[in-house]
Amino acid sequence: MSERKPPLRSAQWFGTADKNGFMYRSWMKNQGIPDHEFQGKPIIGICNTWSELTPCNAHFRKLAEHVKQGILEAGGYPVEFPVFSSGESNLRPTAMFTRNLASMDVEEAIRGNPIDAVVLLVGCDKTTPALLMGAASCDIPTIVVTGGPMLNGKHKGKDIGSGTVVWQLSEQVKAGEISLHDFMAAEAGMSRSAGTCNTMGTASTMACMAESLGTSLPHNAAIPAVDSRRYVLAHLSGNRIVEMVNEDLKLSKILTKEAFENAIRTNAAIGGSTNAVIHLKAIAGRMGVDLKLDDWSRVGRGTPTVVDLQPSGRYLMEEFYYAGGLPAVLKRLGDADRLPFKDALTVNGKTLWENVKDAPLYNDDVIRPLDNPLTADGGICVLRGNLAPNGAVLKPSAATAELMQHRGRAVVFEDFDDYKARINDPDLDVEANDILVMKHCGPRGYHGMAEVGNMGLPPKILAQGVTDMVRISDARMSGTAYGTVVLHVAPEAAAGGPLAAVRNGDWIELDCASGRLHLDVSEEEIQARLAAFDATAASTLIASQGGYRQLYIERVLQADEGCDFDFLIGCRGSDVPRHSH
Ligand code: FES
Ligand code: MG
Repeated sequence: MSERKPPLRSAQWFGTADKNGFMYRSWMKNQGIPDHEFQGKPIIGICNTWSELTPCNAHFRKLAEHVKQGILEAGGYPVEFPVFSSGESNLRPTAMFTRNLASMDVEEAIRGNPIDAVVLLVGCDKTTPALLMGAASCDIPTIVVTGGPMLNGKHKGKDIGSGTVVWQLSEQVKAGEISLHDFMAAEAGMSRSAGTCNTMGTASTMACMAESLGTSLPHNAAIPAVDSRRYVLAHLSGNRIVEMVNEDLKLSKILTKEAFENAIRTNAAIGGSTNAVIHLKAIAGRMGVDLKLDDWSRVGRGTPTVVDLQPSGRYLMEEFYYAGGLPAVLKRLGDADRLPFKDALTVNGKTLWENVKDAPLYNDDVIRPLDNPLTADGGICVLRGNLAPNGAVLKPSAATAELMQHRGRAVVFEDFDDYKARINDPDLDVEANDILVMKHCGPRGYHGMAEVGNMGLPPKILAQGVTDMVRISDARMSGTAYGTVVLHVAPEAAAGGPLAAVRNGDWIELDCASGRLHLDVSEEEIQARLAAFDATAASTLIASQGGYRQLYIERVLQADEGCDFDFLIGCRGSDVPRHSH
């Protein structure tokens, strides 16, 4: 083990033979901790998002035990603590609403407590960015341990993917193609082990982002939750975090602009979730790294999507791991000189390239060659125009190629309730070439920017055998979803963005090749319509009810800025000069 350089942060609590040291140690001793554990050992926090209401993270108490074994073995002392767990499947109005809340919890828990380093136990979508955001604002040695994906879902002899199959089957039930009985059977077959969504949804994407950023050990992203190797990785991460204290390897040495560019390139190669655009921006903001929406075009565009996973492709996370996992993808990129910063440092003290340069690749169907990709240009498509002055995004690998250049007539829904009330109406004036537009689903409008952007198609269109239409909104979309869906329109309607001005029958032009999203209405007319529209009325009404919702609506930033709270941007360090008594 390496020799320690800096003094231990925890010694500010436990290292003095006076009143303060007495207080800090004495209460800890009620847990049966002997004296020698306080003396000169790195105290390692294990930040746990375990919750039975976050089913994807419900196995984390076991995961934590393995991390603890690794910490103890390496000469550290583990202390596990809970933080707010943003569970994607249960939380209303959307887990994203609580991502910033969780990040504040994490930040203050890390800073205020006697720990020298922290292990972040993350899994379900928002838990990964929330914990990285909080940790980045403190900047102590940090390592990510992900809970891992569920085993493949099974239904009628076929593999089914978390989330993705829900979107597919719910449309098939609506179109009368399958029975309700089959629908319910799939519900049971989809989630048959511990772990996160097994598609390349937001959880898997963010796990890949954490690994490509260098914040986890290699293979952290893909090992299935119930595979014994997941627990070996947890143990090894426990070993490693103790060494990181001795090396003073803080998060700021890992989370550089270069690391984020590697992650953006990786996102294109894996066909990752559009949610990563928002989360990486928020994490970067906490670290003081200037990441822009246009970096996604500059670094990501032109990169082929080679990972053939649902929702864009065919396979699931189990196959991804067995095919070689993320190290195999990074090696494939690097061999072709398409990994921008091979020398970026990672938590194990090696560079990203050192970690992956000899990584085996076992299955070319799952991780395809760069010259036989799933999508030739897989990077996130950033769109701008008079409909989205501050940007919008589209995921090409999940879209229909022919629809990525499209001019259509707008069919407008004022908000999600309006959409739900009218979408099934047989008299709805809609044709297959129209563009579905939905307003008021952005960070302020829906408070939390729900994943409703992939609006299900009208049944009358589905009945014609049409499976995709262009859809535009200020919402997000689940990483497990697909379609030619323009998301994150900024500014959102509820912030007075031009999206609020769109009316039924307006013509809209989408051109992914040139990154253009244009409302074919004169500027004077748009301004006149916006002047007549009270953008803030709805959100002001909600804000007046108080509580966290008020804070959220008043301080949340727009999608292009990562949806963090304005006052949370930046790294505030880990110093707390004052004692507790
Ligand atoms: Fe938790 Fe998908 S719902 S990872
Ligand atoms: Mg999701």
